[in-house]
Amino acid sequence: MTKLLVVGATGMVGQAVTAAAARRGWRASGAARRGAEIALDLEDEASIVSAVEASEPDIVVNAAALTDLAACEADPASAHAINAISVGRLALAAAKKNALFVHVSTDQYWSGDGAALHGEDVPAMPVNEYGKSKLAGEKAAFSVTATLVLRTNVTGPRGWAGKPTFAEWLCEAISKGSPLTLFDDYFTSTIDSASFADALLDLADKGASGLFNVAARGAHHKAAFAAAIGRAMRIDPNVSATASVLALKPRRAESAGLDCARAEAILGRRMPDLDTVCRNIVRQIFHLSERP
Ligand SMILES: NC(=O)c1ccc[n+]([C@@H]2O[C@H](COP(=O)([O-])OP(=O)(O)OC[C@H]3O[C@@H](n4cnc5c(N)ncnc54)[C@H](OP(=O)(O)O)[C@@H]3O)[C@@H](O)[C@H]2O)c1
Repeated sequence: MTKLLVVGATGMVGQAVTAAAARRGWRASGAARRGAEIALDLEDEASIVSAVEASEPDIVVNAAALTDLAACEADPASAHAINAISVGRLALAAAKKNALFVHVSTDQYWSGDGAALHGEDVPAMPVNEYGKSKLAGEKAAFSVTATLVLRTNVTGPRGWAGKPTFAEWLCEAISKGSPLTLFDDYFTSTIDSASFADALLDLADKGASGLFNVAARGAHHKAAFAAAIGRAMRIDPNVSATASVLALKPRRAESAGLDCARAEAILGRRMPDLDTVCRNIVRQIFHLSERP
């Protein structure tokens, strides 16, 4: 049986990876600072080493990060410690156990080219401290050879009271008919967390290593994404206004589309399109077993 250590297991992506592993009969141990099977603090090197050693993993998945853009901007040193330095330490600890290291990265790397899709070879140009720390994290992950780094934009359920994910916030706002102001110049290839987790485990299972984009097919602005969630819920979103993401602080890298051809070639399937992603999200958030 394949054994996984999922770092950041209580988060949105960590929960999805743990559930996907369980669906295929793999054993997943979870780690986080609190609420997981194993206590691990990325800022404490000893806890990284002991978590990896104790779990005897075949694969270490790093789904933990400082994801709050404002916190990264306010404290770049902490962002770098959690999103970069600790990644190198995890990679090394995984390598010492001959485990594959899978690191979840971001799409926060490009601006000014609208809905363009970026392949893995397009140079990353981060515009905020989060993006800079995540790019440094990719480099740290590649300090060992058996490494799979996945760039993505992902959303789905998480279930943290008072801290909804984008998908949770949007589904609730649409179901309540709340007025929405949505960006029409912020382009992403957002994928649902379950599809992302399945692709991650499939790539790992196929022995892939290197840098891969794992996201939805195409890039869409947030207003188009909300419209697709509305179609999946069969409710017209109450869009009161559209707005520009360029006014938002910290600045976003707003042309974040990802070209997933490299991952699709290994997976032997196309990544899901916008409407499929949004139907999956609605199903996952409202715990529906059938398409709505
Ligand atoms: N959400 C998005 O839109 C998005 C988009 C693109 C890429 N990503 C990437 O996807 C990955 C997962 O993101 P997510 O949205 O699932 O994050 P999340 O929901 O905020 O979860 C973060 C997880 O990391 C753990 N964590 C945070 N700081 C830690 C520390 N110092 N030591 C140990 N564990 C720590 C958290 O648990 P504790 O706080 O209890 O430790 C939690 O389990 C990240 O690498 C992120 O950069 C996310």
